[in-house]
Parts: sequence; structure tokens; C-alpha cells
Amino acid sequence: VKWPAIELAEQGFVVPKALEQTRDWYQDWIENRTQAVLNFSKYFGSFKAGEVFKQPELAQTLKRIAKDGAQEFYQGQTAKYLVEEYQSLNGLITMKDLKRYEAKWRSPIQFSWQGLNVISAPPPSSGGVAIAQLLGMQQKLWPDFRRRHQNLASSEEQQALQVHFYAELMKRVYADRAEYLGDSDFVEVPVQSLIHPDYLKKRASELNWQEISKTESVRPGPIESPETTHFSIVDADGNAVSNTYTLNMPFGNGVVISKAGFLMNNEMDDFSSKPGVANLFGVIGAEANAIAPRKRMLSSMSPTIVTKNGKVDAVVGTPGGSTIITSVFQALMNAYVFNKAAQESVDAPRVHHQLWPKNRISYNPSIDEGVKSELELMGYELKEHFYMGDLQMLLRQDDEWQAASDKRGRGKAGIVE
Ligand code: DON
Repeated sequence: VKWPAIELAEQGFVVPKALEQTRDWYQDWIENRTQAVLNFSKYFGSFKAGEVFKQPELAQTLKRIAKDGAQEFYQGQTAKYLVEEYQSLNGLITMKDLKRYEAKWRSPIQFSWQGLNVISAPPPSSGGVAIAQLLGMQQKLWPDFRRRHQNLASSEEQQALQVHFYAELMKRVYADRAEYLGDSDFVEVPVQSLIHPDYLKKRASELNWQEISKTESVRPGPIESPETTHFSIVDADGNAVSNTYTLNMPFGNGVVISKAGFLMNNEMDDFSSKPGVANLFGVIGAEANAIAPRKRMLSSMSPTIVTKNGKVDAVVGTPGGSTIITSVFQALMNAYVFNKAAQESVDAPRVHHQLWPKNRISYNPSIDEGVKSELELMGYELKEHFYMGDLQMLLRQDDEWQAASDKRGRGKAGIVE
């Protein structure tokens, strides 16, 4: 991975239009967010669509890391550049902080669903737990859903029922996320209770088919005792990688470590800064995800692998902040319940509901007007979401691999012989 990246940084790449547009949007956005004078524009303000953009400092950084490994980043020259830049901005990161940092191995969340084995992200991401809850409740309620679906007269009513069904599942998941999920090194996250079939059965039984469950009454369940980039890879021997990584906003927090050529992330936003106060993605949290020294923030990242009879059957994930969870859920529903091909599974319209704002369902790219009216009659507020993830999915169907990149994004999918 390092060598192509070094080449891209050194020789440059032709800037796509979409990247220029994101930069323009971000530049405006970040300007009013901080009192610090950022150096973002100095480094990224001048690239133009269609022209080659080079990052020589980044090429040097990657070369140093290729030579000396992670140690270089956390304790070497790169660390010095980083701390120097931060100190000049009155930032808080010190050499000691970097030296203390360690990447941690955590066991993934695993659960079975429809005879498949699903493997996804553990805390400090909320993704795996949330997806286990969505799929677990969906499975329990499916016969009921099918019956109600068949009894409806029009396709608008049927589609509205499906969106309402998804929204009811999602709001319960986001209530639990806000209360229980956080860094498991700091808070006891009751993972096994949250994804236990009995708990999900009880939680699913509270779902209201007729009308919207009142937002305030959807409490976290009673328990005893979640710019971002995703890639999905399977090799010829059946080894799989599902990797999501995040800067939080398209260009992180807008601070460039100028001598090293990279951006700092904006991950503090993934903590709950105050109980009940929403972050940039509109999600709320409580004590479990409060800020503390050395604690890791709660993510929604949901890199996921599905295995069938011990063999990899799907690899999926996406960026999209809080919509990551619901996008991965819908990709799995499309592929395994509605038997869609990989490309259709990632391209199909998606909906999203995260408990708050109250009764808000967002959608992308569109919803049939008739379906919208049905949902509005129930009391939902429908809102177009200008961005809803960028799914990257590999799916084995009839023993053939399919590779698909969401039409919403700039990803590339392919099979290399
Ligand atoms: O870890 C998280 O959940 C967020 N930092 C992800 C942010 C994100 O996906 C933004 N990308 N579009």
C-alpha cells in the first residue's frame, strides 16, 4: 500500500471535480468553526480540478514510515513535526501523548443471521453492535412484516411500510447507542446483552406497526449487569479485509502538519461533548461516551465481513457518519433478503432514522411521492440527505464474486485476474 501512495504523493494526481467541490465547501465550513488560524487553505486552497496536485512533504513522511515503521510516526521526525505544528497553534498534543499511543487489537462483534456468520466492528465503534441489533430485530419481525406487506393494497403503502419498519428498528438502535456505547477500556459496554436474541426479541416486540413510536418513549433498553474511507478486499485464497478509516470531516480539523504533509483528524467530534448535545452528525450520547484522558471516542464505522459455511461470502462498509450503520444494514438486506446483485444492493435508494431529530426520516437519492405522502400521513418528516455513504461491497453469488462501488461516490470496484 505504501509504494503506490508514495508515488501518488510525489508525482501527484489529477484533481477530480468532486474533490475541488468538497474542498470549496469545507473551506467555507471550517472558517467559522474555530478561533485558531488554520493553515488549511495555504496547503489545499490552490488545487484545481483537472490539474496535477503534488504533496512532496507527504511523500517524504511516507518514505520515513516505510523505512522505520510506526515508531517513526509516534516518536520520530514525523512526531516532532506534528507536535511543533500543534504547539504553534496552542494545541494540546505532546511528544509524550504520541509515545503513549498504541493501536489496540479488539475482538470483532460476531453473530449469526439467516444462517450466515456476520463479523463487524467492536467498540469503540458502535457499528457492529448496531448492525447486529438491526439485523437481529429484522429477522424476528420478518414473518409479521411479510404478512402486513402482502395485505396492503398499493405499492406506495407497501414501500411506506418498509421505510417505517426500518425507521422503527433504527430509532431503538440509536437510543441504545446514545446510552451504552463508548470505549470499552473505560466503560463497561454490555455487548453480549445488547445483541442477545432474547433482548432483541423483547425490543422488537415493542415496535409499533401502526404509527410512529413516540420519540421520547423510545428509551435505551433495560440491560443487566459507533473523510472517512472504506475499502473491501478479497484475495484469490479467500482472505478478506474490510477497512474503514476516518478523519471525521472531509479534511479533518483543517490543520496540516506542514513539514510532514498530512492533515489532522477531527475525531473529538465523535465524543459526546455534553449529555444530549448532538455532534456534527446529529447523534447524541451520554456518560458512556464522555471525554476522558486516553479514552477513545465512539465511532459508527462498520467494516463487515459475512461468512457462509466458513467461507467469505461478502465484504462491505462505507463512510457516512451516523448513516454508516443504516447503510451497511440496508446493503445486507438488499443482498441477502431481497437477493439483489452487489451493484443494485449498493445503489438502491436508502433511508435513515437515528431517533433524533424527532420523526425525521432522511433519504437518498429520492423517494416516490406516493410513498412520501403515506409516511407524512403517519407523521414523519421526510428530508433529502445530500450525502448518504459510499458503500463498497464484494458479494459472492452463485459462486461468482461481484464487486460494486456505490454510484453516490468516486470509488472503483473491480476483479483482478
Ligand atoms: O467514526 C465515525 O463514526 C465518524 N468519524 C465517521 C465520519 C464519516 O464517516 C464522515 N464521512 N463521510
